[in-house]
Amino acid sequence: KILILDFGSQYTQLIGRAVREANVFCEIIPFNKEIEFTPELKGVILSGSPFSVNEQNAPSVDVKLIAAKVPVLGICYGAQLTAKLYGGVVEKSDKREYGRAKLQIKDNHELLKEVKDDSDVWMSHSDTIVKLPENFSLSATTHSIPVAAFKYENENVKLFGLQFHPEVYHSAEGKKIIKNFLLNVCGCAQDWTSAHFINETVDAIKETIGDKKVIMALSGGVDSTVAATLIHKAIGKNLYGIFVDNGVLRKDEFQQVLDSCNSIGLNIKGVDAKDHFYTKLAGKVSPEEKRKIIGKCFIEIFDEEAHKIEGIEFLGQGTIYPDVIESMSVHGPSQTIKSHHNVGGLPDYMKLKLVEPLRSLFKDEVRKVGAELGLPAALLNRHPFPGPGLAIRILGEVTEEKVQLLQQADAIYTKALLKFDLYATVWQAGAILLPVKSVGVMGDERTYEFTVALRAVTSVDGMTADWAHLPYEFLAYVSNEIINNVKGINRVVYDISSKPPATIEWE
Ligand code: XMP
Repeated sequence: KILILDFGSQYTQLIGRAVREANVFCEIIPFNKEIEFTPELKGVILSGSPFSVNEQNAPSVDVKLIAAKVPVLGICYGAQLTAKLYGGVVEKSDKREYGRAKLQIKDNHELLKEVKDDSDVWMSHSDTIVKLPENFSLSATTHSIPVAAFKYENENVKLFGLQFHPEVYHSAEGKKIIKNFLLNVCGCAQDWTSAHFINETVDAIKETIGDKKVIMALSGGVDSTVAATLIHKAIGKNLYGIFVDNGVLRKDEFQQVLDSCNSIGLNIKGVDAKDHFYTKLAGKVSPEEKRKIIGKCFIEIFDEEAHKIEGIEFLGQGTIYPDVIESMSVHGPSQTIKSHHNVGGLPDYMKLKLVEPLRSLFKDEVRKVGAELGLPAALLNRHPFPGPGLAIRILGEVTEEKVQLLQQADAIYTKALLKFDLYATVWQAGAILLPVKSVGVMGDERTYEFTVALRAVTSVDGMTADWAHLPYEFLAYVSNEIINNVKGINRVVYDISSKPPATIEWE
């Protein structure tokens, strides 16, 4: 196992991901948490940080103590801290160095083995190591800094530092360097796979939960289903799944989700709360207000269900890493990472302990785990769907009638994407019901009906997105299908806005 000490860098999770990609198990802990030096621990990586090592409250660890037990790799801040603690000099450089640089290798030792000279590396720092500690050797430079990589070795210690970020995509040989550290330096076994993750996670859940009960809200999406399947594997019927029909699900989704959960043996209860949501949403037009109402209604319903089951102690959640908002403070473990919940968070008085088996994984890793668990591909490759559902795709007031209109249009759109083999080529797609009526003509009859906008985007992570360039023949087909089959809609438009400046959802 590898331990990654987090000093608050935005890239720390990418280090974890790179280690897992090399099939090595790792854990990320706040820098100031005590390290247990078990025999499984093969090495420690020190992350970057927004701090400068010369600041007064700069976070620190006893690198010498750690390095006396296992090999250490310091990245950016981690390298500067190491250099400073061993007696080197770190100074603010005249110019901040951000972006691409060319690595000039001086010594192809085990960490830089087979790493190409002059390869691109990604820099992001304003301090520079200007003098290495005594007995440290220079391993690489770049054109703008004297120390891009260093090594220190004696019979008890193996220590490396990198000024650049090997974990980011733009460092061409970065993955190789991390792999070299894991395999050549630490001698890690490459036995960490999805199957391994599943076994370890299931064992850990069993141990934490024992014969206690867990309640969990399912959404039918990838994350909550994979998380629930893991918890189910660990504790079986003691997992109580709740799936709420909030009235703004996709067409037939309620039954489909219940059926698919039942088919994998999950203990799930469907709760029809449509009317509760519609009543509370009546007359509300502000997007934020609608979101809040949906979050609140959800909690009310969930809470009511939770109280029907005796002795619940845990709350299962499908939180994955991108849902976790980094609020880790380098000043102490008390203010660690905070979760963003789809439903707006659960009330404190529920006092349930959280079980979040996926909170360190990225979406593609969750999909791999899901595939290993034998979940159907259609579920694993489903487009993201927002927690507030169709309510934020019905601009203005949400009514049952409008939901039904949009459900029909949305179902036609999704079915057509599948039929034309376009579903997998877009990252997310959905139909939006506009609060606009316009005049049309059908046969000899004048119509005055609603407009639907189609949205489809390409994206990697939903943070930025481009509108998908769907073929005209496809758009023509969908437009015809919707207008001919959905009474109440007589016009279809296509959204050609990217994010930013627009967002993916319209509300
Ligand atoms: P935006 O509209 O912000 O959406 O560009 C980015 C991604 O987030 C989804 N989204 C949500 N997901 N609860 C969710 O679970 C929400 O309140 C929510 N709002 C937006 C959106 O569908 C897209 O995938």
